[in-house]
Amino acid sequence: MPAKFRQGAYMDKILVLDFGGQYNQLIARRVRDLHVFAEIRSYRRITIDEIKNIGYKGIIFTGGPNSVYDPESPHYDPALLDAGIPILGICYGHQLMAWMAGGEIASAGSISEYGKIEFTHKGGALFTDIPEKSICWMSHTDYVKTAPAGFTVDAVTDNCPCASMSNAAKKLYAVQFHPEVTHTEYGQKILSNFLFSVCGCSGDWKMDDYCKTAIAEIKEKVADGKVLLALSGGVDSSVCAALLAEAVGNQLTCVFVDHGMMRKNEGDEVEAAFAKWDINFIRVDAEARFLEKLSGVTEPERKRKIIGEEFIRVFEEEGKKIGKVDYLAQGTIYPDVVESGEGEAATIKSHHNVGGLPDFVDFKEIIEPLRTLFKDEVRQLGRELGLPEYLVSRQPFPGPGLAIRVLGEITKDKLDLLREADAIFREEVDAWEGHAAANQYFAVLTNARSVGVMGDARTYGYTIALRSVTTDDFMTADWTRIPFEVLARVGTRIPNEVKGVSRVVYDITSKPPATVEFE
Ligand code: XMP
Repeated sequence: MPAKFRQGAYMDKILVLDFGGQYNQLIARRVRDLHVFAEIRSYRRITIDEIKNIGYKGIIFTGGPNSVYDPESPHYDPALLDAGIPILGICYGHQLMAWMAGGEIASAGSISEYGKIEFTHKGGALFTDIPEKSICWMSHTDYVKTAPAGFTVDAVTDNCPCASMSNAAKKLYAVQFHPEVTHTEYGQKILSNFLFSVCGCSGDWKMDDYCKTAIAEIKEKVADGKVLLALSGGVDSSVCAALLAEAVGNQLTCVFVDHGMMRKNEGDEVEAAFAKWDINFIRVDAEARFLEKLSGVTEPERKRKIIGEEFIRVFEEEGKKIGKVDYLAQGTIYPDVVESGEGEAATIKSHHNVGGLPDFVDFKEIIEPLRTLFKDEVRQLGRELGLPEYLVSRQPFPGPGLAIRVLGEITKDKLDLLREADAIFREEVDAWEGHAAANQYFAVLTNARSVGVMGDARTYGYTIALRSVTTDDFMTADWTRIPFEVLARVGTRIPNEVKGVSRVVYDITSKPPATVEFE
């Protein structure tokens, strides 16, 4: 297994020690918003010696679903509290710190706190410049009944005798509530007090610096080696390609497989975005072979499988032409990494980007220069590298592309018709001032044909379904409340401008019970 290229030698690093809480990525995001680099590691996968050697400026213990007295619950070596590294415990992390230091935890039973709660603080480094009373977000049943020896209680609520505690001499701080969620009024200020006043971070994590450092690191790593990248045209692989292009120029070969299932002008846009770099850009026009493979296929999973397999075949053929390369680059991003093993959520799902490496290309190592970045940071990096906005702010687009949006059998005519309708819908949504509420929006060519009338003639055309969802994570989604005026324009334009369409409908189902895609 080729070694992974780890990137990011930053001055200040914060460790988010993951005990299985649901907001762990959010904690890291909030820290990075304050220009301090944060990384999430599962408590199971990092030893106290590693923690000391890495030289973290501070540690944040996350929340978690357990009770500290449960023998199965996540624990950590209490010696960490004496390692001289500032620590902030959050929720379960607060209770764990109390437990590790010899305090007493109890179950609140019927008075467990959940939701927005007012707390009162009595001062201390975490609460500098924060009013004595403010609102925080609580979600707990257990609570710290007695703070450990050497700790002072810094905040209380009506039902929680220790909503925050500290041992200032050892730079240990903890809060029962969640400063990382926006419902906690001064949450970001509390995190900032911890990072800057307690840990002494300098706040030097900035995207332009990141970009320069990443380029320098890639240059050093790759030296005069050859790098190969499969470019899909999505945000991650595009930004990864741009970063490598900037770092190693024509030592990079990008293989962009155009399977013919892309949106209107998409292939040309991707190609144009990379024109400014002197790289080996191979655009494979594979539309005909994909259409041939898909001919007569109506079953969605079969379509997906055919496209996935054919994609690998094409990439394989191109890879063979190139011969031996030194590095295979992948646009793996931080949430993929955390979900696949480095955080506690690890065991839940494994992501294709991290596990499934093509074994047919002869390479010695994988480089993943976006491994430490969240999606919005990847977009920011793309802008920093001068990629056009249409690429960096691109909405998610499924690998099988329009193949799963042409319901039933796929033909070139149907794809072309859908491309036109989809472009009109996207153009109108983009022009709507509230378009930020639409996280993914597209047209679908249904199999339903219906009677229409145009001029004096009867028509019998297709029905286009419009789909737009509002969502944070695409696991659940609501349909977007696009204003009627916008929908009305789309409903007029599509049948007028796209031959063969006689009806347009808007999908008003959420997920669940529906999914985002139709197939
Ligand atoms: P569903 O339809 O499952 O979609 O609610 C959730 C998100 O996943 C995308 N999606 C796919 N992405 N290959 C992909 O790369 C696929 O086969 C696929 N199916 C769905 C979908 O666009 C949405 O963002």
